[in-house]
Order: sequence, then C-alpha cells, then structure tokens
Amino acid sequence: MSRTFETVGVVGLGTMGAGIAEVFARAGLRVAGVEVDAQALERGRGHVERSTGRAVSRGRLDEAGRQAILDRITFTGSLDDLRDADLVIEAIPEVMDYKHALFTDLDRVCRPDAILATNTSSLSVTAVAAATERPGRVVGMHFFNPAPVMKLVEVVRTVVTGEGVAEDVAGLARRLGKTPVTVGDRAGFVVNRLLLGYLNHAATLLELGVATRDDIDTAMRLGAGFPMGPFALLDLIGLDVSHEVCEVLFQESRDRVHAPAPILRELVTAGLLGRKSGRGFHVHDGGGESAPE
Ligand code: 3HC
Repeated sequence: MSRTFETVGVVGLGTMGAGIAEVFARAGLRVAGVEVDAQALERGRGHVERSTGRAVSRGRLDEAGRQAILDRITFTGSLDDLRDADLVIEAIPEVMDYKHALFTDLDRVCRPDAILATNTSSLSVTAVAAATERPGRVVGMHFFNPAPVMKLVEVVRTVVTGEGVAEDVAGLARRLGKTPVTVGDRAGFVVNRLLLGYLNHAATLLELGVATRDDIDTAMRLGAGFPMGPFALLDLIGLDVSHEVCEVLFQESRDRVHAPAPILRELVTAGLLGRKSGRGFHVHDGGGESAPE
C-alpha cells in the first residue's frame, strides 16, 4: 500500500525552499519550515507572503485561501519540530558537508519510517543517503524555479532506494499538481545536465562577441520558443547556483561545455548574483528587467 503524506518539513527557506513550502501548503499539507535564525525565517515567510499576495492580486486566489496557506506553514528554528513529519525535504546551500551534517541530524530526529529528500541540483543523492541509517528512504526531489509555477519534479532514485519509495514520492509530486519523472543519481540529473550546458554556452557566445546580451535573449525566445532568454534565466536561477552546478557537472563529465565561462565566475565574485542581488547579466528593478548602465 502506498504511504500517505500529511505533514512535511522543509529545511532551508531560501528562494527554492520557500517556494516548495508554499507548494506543499497549497496542496493542503501541513508544513514545518525550518531556518537557522529569526532573520532567515522572516525572509522565508516574506517570500511566501509575497508569492501568495501576487496570486491574490492576479485573482488566482482569494484572501481567505491565502490565509489558509500561510496558516498551514509553521516557521521554526528547531529541527525537533520535524519529529512527526512524513517527509522532510532539504533545500540548504549546495555544500556536501552541510548536507551530511543535516541528514545525520534529521536521521536522529525524524520518525524511522519518514522519507528524507534533498532538493539538490547537482550533488550526489547517494552520498547524502550514506550519512543516514536509512539510505533506502532517502531520495532526490528536485523542484524548479519558480517552484510554485514549474510543473516538473525530478524524483532521484539511488542504487539503495527501497522498493516503492520513489513511486510514493512521485505520487506526492502528482498530488502537488506536478508531473514527476524518475531519474538516476548522475550529476545534474536530466534538466540541469542539458540546461546548464546551454546557458554556459550562451555566456561564452557573449564573451566571444557573437551577439549582444539582449540579442541572444531575444534570439532564443523568438527563434527557439523559450519562455526566457538564457541571460534572463541565468539571473532567475542565480549566477552562484548556475556556476556551482556547472563546476560539479564539469568535474563529473569533463565535458568542456560545462567548464564555467569566465564571465560567470567574474560576476559571482563581484556579488552580482542575478535577481536575488538585484543585478546579474541584467539589472532587476522590482522584478522587471532593464539594461545595466
Ligand atoms: N513565484 C510564484 N509565482 C510566480 C513567480 C514566482 N517567482 N514568477 C511568476 N509566477 C507566476 C505568476 O504569478 C503568473 O501566475 P498567474 O498566471 O497565476 O498570474 C505566472 O507565474 C506567469 O508569470 P508572469 O506572467 O509574470 O511571467 P511569464 O509568463 O513570463 O512566466 C516564468 C514567468 C514562469 C518564470 C517563465 O518565464 C518561465 O517558465 N521561465 C523559465 C523558467 C525555468 O526554466 N525554470 C527552470 C530553471 S532550472 C532550475 O530551477 C533548476 C535548478 O536546480 C537550477
């Protein structure tokens, strides 16, 4: 019999984690959202408030529905509040040492039958699972940015994933209104493996002076039917995340298409991370985009 999920935990309430918490709450699940300190918790709460507020202003949600979503999320600084969760998903920074430490703690705190999931973009789910005494119940559950909008979830199955676990998580993704695909534990899974090579290549074309930033963005929107051009998308994903994923993909594949373009590294070093910092390849002015000076 497939398991049911009523209470979930989300650890890390950055752009992805807050979006994932909202997705669960929208589907009627109770959510405990965990962050390291009060400031990070407030940022996470603000994210969900803004996102659901936008849905209200667009007439997609009424105020009572918004309040119900917010009421289903408990914001907490303590992992102990995850002890009743049926599933916990982690969306903390992409540093394996942090993930290892967190999964060791989650393994101790959470019910033995609970599923532990990681939203990692590129790190090894098998290595994360190995930090626990329950590797059979550790999977990848990879959402896409913006999580409330993008319809896909990659469910990552490892060689030690227990029977039925990936299927149950895929069922949960469907309940969230998403379409799951099951993928093996290889760096970048499917989407990032294909997408980041393309985005990195766009940065290389810019450096080579083949076309301007705006013309490359326009070309891919109007010529290939992508909803955003590559520089707008790099800014949405975050240049730090994009750079990090390219690095990991390059280390694993040794394919030059993933060797991070120098301009990507340069912008990250300068703190120009995309939408989240207000400027990346584009300047972002309250969500819109304009040309940099
Ligand atoms: N949070 C919540 N909702 C959002 C949102 C956000 N950040 N951004 C947009 N939306 C909602 C809007 O409210 C709107 O909803 P409505 O139709 O109910 O009013 C809907 O999405 C469409 O938004 P807009 O009309 O403002 O804008 P667009 O039609 O241009 O769509 C987009 C915006 C959905 C971001 C679209 O441009 C798109 O699909 N871009 C590509 C995004 C993509 O490829 N993401 C994957 C990145 S890879 C990744 O995340 C993996 C990671 O590991 C790196």
